[in-house]
Amino acid sequence: MTNQGPAERRAFGIDIGGTGMKAAVVDLDTGDLSTERHRIDTPKPATPAAMAEVVRELVAVHGWTGSVGCAFPAVVRNGVVGSAANIDDSWLDVDADAVFTDAIGAPVHMLNDADAAGVAEMRFGAGRGRDGVVMMLTFGTGIGSGLFVDGILVPNTELGHLELDGFDAEKRAAASAKKREDLSWTQWAERVERYLRHVEALFSPELFIVGGGASKQADRWLPKVSIGTEIVPAVMQNNAGIVGAALNAP
Ligand code: BGC
Repeated sequence: MTNQGPAERRAFGIDIGGTGMKAAVVDLDTGDLSTERHRIDTPKPATPAAMAEVVRELVAVHGWTGSVGCAFPAVVRNGVVGSAANIDDSWLDVDADAVFTDAIGAPVHMLNDADAAGVAEMRFGAGRGRDGVVMMLTFGTGIGSGLFVDGILVPNTELGHLELDGFDAEKRAAASAKKREDLSWTQWAERVERYLRHVEALFSPELFIVGGGASKQADRWLPKVSIGTEIVPAVMQNNAGIVGAALNAP
């Protein structure tokens, strides 16, 4: 851990994904990481007990003893997991806050991963100072959504699971679909555009922020997407989940 000035406010964030669990100490005033990011492969199967062990390890590696915020790729209502599209089914209805709090002996609070990324982008990134309806969308294994109204999060919107053309939308337009179906950037951008136009028609946001794995290469596909709403890539990229999680630490 690095030495920091006394004025710095810090918190610990963990971003849990299907393949990796990443953690760091976060400077809450700047949104910068105060330590190196540490990553451990998500255990297989990713059961609550196996993941709690990794959470314990991530906290120990950093010598962190305080509370922890956690971003999780599912619906999380008051700490309880409410969906399992891309995670192990054994998480359904589990009080994840309680499981991880038990594991580390300090309070843990979980929130949806796209909500966490959106919180970070609204505070420090592409959504900074933006009022009205702002929609964060993450394109990775699934599609995650974070809806903000005048900067306030409406949690667990799950817009990746809108039905579109008879499909669960994320099955066709997530970044994983590009890989799975070997689509060109142009072909994939067409799907993303179709999806965005649908979300646009339903919510009329003032701004879309697009994040997740695909935002690292936004220059390859974003220029091919033509919609009526302002759309910008996320600026915090890999760290948005960790930072948003830390901002929500109890
Ligand atoms: C899940 C969401 C999650 C998104 C991105 C979806 O399949 O249902 O909760 O935010 O993937 O990880």
